[in-house]
Amino acid sequence: MRIRSLAYAGLSTRELPSWETFGADVLGLPGHWAGDGRLLLRMDERAYRFDIRHGDAEGLSWLGWEVASAADLAALEHDLAAAGVTVTRASAAECADRRVAGMAWLVDPSGLRHELCYGQEADFRPLRLTRPLSGYRTGEHGMGHAVIGVRNYAETLAFLVDTLGFAVSDTFKGFIAFLHCNPRHHSIALVETDEPGLRHIMLETATLDDVGSTFDAAFDRRIVTRTLGRHSNDRAVSFYLETPSGWEIEYGWDGMDVDTAGWSTRQLAGPTSLWGHHHVTGTEIKTS
Ligand SMILES: [Fe+2]
Repeated sequence: MRIRSLAYAGLSTRELPSWETFGADVLGLPGHWAGDGRLLLRMDERAYRFDIRHGDAEGLSWLGWEVASAADLAALEHDLAAAGVTVTRASAAECADRRVAGMAWLVDPSGLRHELCYGQEADFRPLRLTRPLSGYRTGEHGMGHAVIGVRNYAETLAFLVDTLGFAVSDTFKGFIAFLHCNPRHHSIALVETDEPGLRHIMLETATLDDVGSTFDAAFDRRIVTRTLGRHSNDRAVSFYLETPSGWEIEYGWDGMDVDTAGWSTRQLAGPTSLWGHHHVTGTEIKTS
């Protein structure tokens, strides 16, 4: 497996100023306006994890996946081309735009753009978050996970596994698959749906108190969408909140690690949460 982790996410929004406020006041993420009017949000020593640009749609423009080296990127490009996948090597200008040393990109069968990169810029200094939080669990686990709704579930799942090299951690009732590329239980999940697009991005904190204080910040702003709960498969304690774009962030702690060398795919039969994660509508809390 050559993909190591989720390095960054590219987002499109009409609500750029709201994203800066949301990032700083709720998630604690310092923002930086790049010269061309896009907003970069940092989570750690990396130059950014969220690359948010003005667009007519609210959603995900691309996912950036990290490989270890120039040699791994070249090998992955070679394998993909041999498998008949159209892979485009990024120009020096595109790499500078993404702040990576090298990048190539492709489009999966659902239409989502995946960027394969190495050498994302970092300053290797501790990051001062904009709220009093302990910090985010990134490193080899990457920035978190993304859950994507797709119409062509089987085709897209086969592509991610057979062609990009993700491994299936769990499946759920034949329409959700959780995929890993490092010890994080899943870095991407697919959901079969007639309403395709980004469902949520999960960020994982260092402490439960970080989850609690961010819950309070979201609760004050009436943007909590699902109550605190623990997922049954990845064991993360989390809640969900609405971003300025309308899709959700899952904000959690204590997600399990998988043994990437020895994991056997599981089939989740029961509910996706051991407790909690009730949907919130307005000021009411409904049982999910
Ligand atoms: Fe999630």
